[in-house]
Amino acid sequence: MTTIRLPRISFILMLAALCSISLVKAQKADTLWLQKIDLSKVTQGWGTAQPNLSIGGNALTIAGQTFKNGVGSHSEGLINLDLKGTAQHFQAMVGLDDEAAGHKGSVVFSVLADRKEVFRSPVMVSGTKAVKIDLNLKGVQKLALVVEDAGDGTDWDHGDWVNAFILYKGVKPQVVGVIPSVKPYILTPLESPKPKINGAKVFGVRPGHPFMFTVAATGTRPMTFTAENLPQGLTLDSKTGIITGVLNDKGETVVTLKAKNSLGTATRKLKIVVGDKIALTPPLGWNSWNCFANAVDQDKVKAAADAMVKSGLINHGWTYINMDDCWETKPGSTDPKLMGEPRDANGMININKKFTDMKVLTDYIHSKGLKAGLYSSPGPLTCAGFTASYQFEDKDAQQWAKWGFDYIKYDWCSYGTISKGETVAECKKPYIVLRNALDKVDRDILFSLCQYGMGNVWEWGEEIGGNCWRTTGDITDSWSSMSGIGFKQNGHEKYAGPGHWNDPDMLVVGLVGWGPQLHPSRLTPDEQYTHISLWSLLASPLLIGCDMTQMDAFTKNLLTNDEVIDINQDPLGKQASLVSKDGGLEVWAKDLEDGSKAVGLFNRNTTKETVKATWNALGLAGKQVAHDVWRQKDQGTFADSFSAVVPAHGVKLITLRKAK
Ligand code: GAL
Repeated sequence: MTTIRLPRISFILMLAALCSISLVKAQKADTLWLQKIDLSKVTQGWGTAQPNLSIGGNALTIAGQTFKNGVGSHSEGLINLDLKGTAQHFQAMVGLDDEAAGHKGSVVFSVLADRKEVFRSPVMVSGTKAVKIDLNLKGVQKLALVVEDAGDGTDWDHGDWVNAFILYKGVKPQVVGVIPSVKPYILTPLESPKPKINGAKVFGVRPGHPFMFTVAATGTRPMTFTAENLPQGLTLDSKTGIITGVLNDKGETVVTLKAKNSLGTATRKLKIVVGDKIALTPPLGWNSWNCFANAVDQDKVKAAADAMVKSGLINHGWTYINMDDCWETKPGSTDPKLMGEPRDANGMININKKFTDMKVLTDYIHSKGLKAGLYSSPGPLTCAGFTASYQFEDKDAQQWAKWGFDYIKYDWCSYGTISKGETVAECKKPYIVLRNALDKVDRDILFSLCQYGMGNVWEWGEEIGGNCWRTTGDITDSWSSMSGIGFKQNGHEKYAGPGHWNDPDMLVVGLVGWGPQLHPSRLTPDEQYTHISLWSLLASPLLIGCDMTQMDAFTKNLLTNDEVIDINQDPLGKQASLVSKDGGLEVWAKDLEDGSKAVGLFNRNTTKETVKATWNALGLAGKQVAHDVWRQKDQGTFADSFSAVVPAHGVKLITLRKAK
């Protein structure tokens, strides 16, 4: 029986094989239109992707031509597809949507096939004709469609993929959601009850100006603070650790600070530099915009100051409580709280009815050992349409100083209607005017330029007396926005240093929402570790953007890791740069004052990957001890490289020091 059955079976199998071969041969390719994929899984820096509409919700239109099919995106935009090995071909046209006409949107489109760039468009601005993409996808497993900012900020970067489709044979390619969700996990070790002094190790002040520095220290209270070699003119409150006074003579003093409680004494040196520079380390603080925006009011600001103390953040060096826009009156508004004369009879700016008394408010903030910040614009109106400083710069600087403010964010906005274009000279002009006004007041006011990077502000921000300058448009709590901004900072490192910092915008961890409604940051836990690690490496101002009265344990863990903060506050003042890159795997490093290096191993891909930092790329030689910064522990000695498995969109932050 067997002898008869075998040939029959093999005959049937052969027939089946032949049939399937001819079936495959005959199989027609199917078409997957891009607008038909699950658009809830794509990401972009702003807006929501919808089928056949631009990101602004209009018909897809590029250089006057309207397209029925496609998907509108926005830098940093990402569509990730798993091609299942069945894709044959990809076709699309790309361009900036006409809804961005008259604005400064500019994008670059790229396509990655299995992480290799197979297409890159020129810079596409408004009016650039759509560019065609035509790619063979045979054998490709993963396809990424990317819309990048072309280097001038992400504003109006409305990039369209039109007439875009994949031809495939067999299983349908699928869009891959960015990354699976991970529960928040805490890496920062528990705070010790023993005293420990944290925060800045160097502090600058101008001669004759009020001095205030709070010794940041963790450990159980009561705690007693003392200082050896405190220059004459300063006094230290032994209970609070707040140092105040005035120093009239230029020069440097190294003070030995001590914090003592029932469990011991901590000692740390603080260098006080009396001179022309302030902000010798990047400012650490909070700003009202990313949580409250228009909904900011006096109670919320007071509550933020209270929360900075109550949460213990102040003990890690966090200092500024900054009000952003919307504290002034609003011309033309019918809201009784915002209506009112813009200025008094002497031309001094008025506050709106959400606030009662700015001096009382800053006194309150100062009484807690914190500093106060405010916002204005060089134009007639702020970005949100409130009264601003144009032609009242001297008066405003005087008023801010009289009120007791320590920080001013000066936001270009309606100055666009005054300036004659965006040449470097025009970009500098209003900031020079305010610099001169600030120089006339007898108070140190940190000068924060906000003009989104226009005229390559990093190249001249220091020269015109800025202490920090925004290098980008506004951040939001999405991976594409945060990572797009953060990883674009390479090349700016040479412009940062003590007293002058690049500012890639405020933090988006915790409860944010641009008020009044708040929501937990849409960044995953790993993305939030990336955010804080990268901003620390970049020596960026760290301005918390969340409602600090409602911080969960995870958010506090992100903001209270002293070793991470130390990287940001390192007295050398170096900004990290990109040292090696393998697709989405990037190694960033910066030199630290003690001769070691802080190194971030970042994984921008959507799956777990091994990231390697080689001594070669880092400019190191010999054995190095790797120290895990978030976990605050050594990880061993390594001969010529360090590798780590890094979660999707995550980071491994280490320091490397020469082994003994
Ligand atoms: C934007 C600025 C934001 C915020 C806002 C206030 O121009 O980038 O950070 O200050 O104005 O209206």
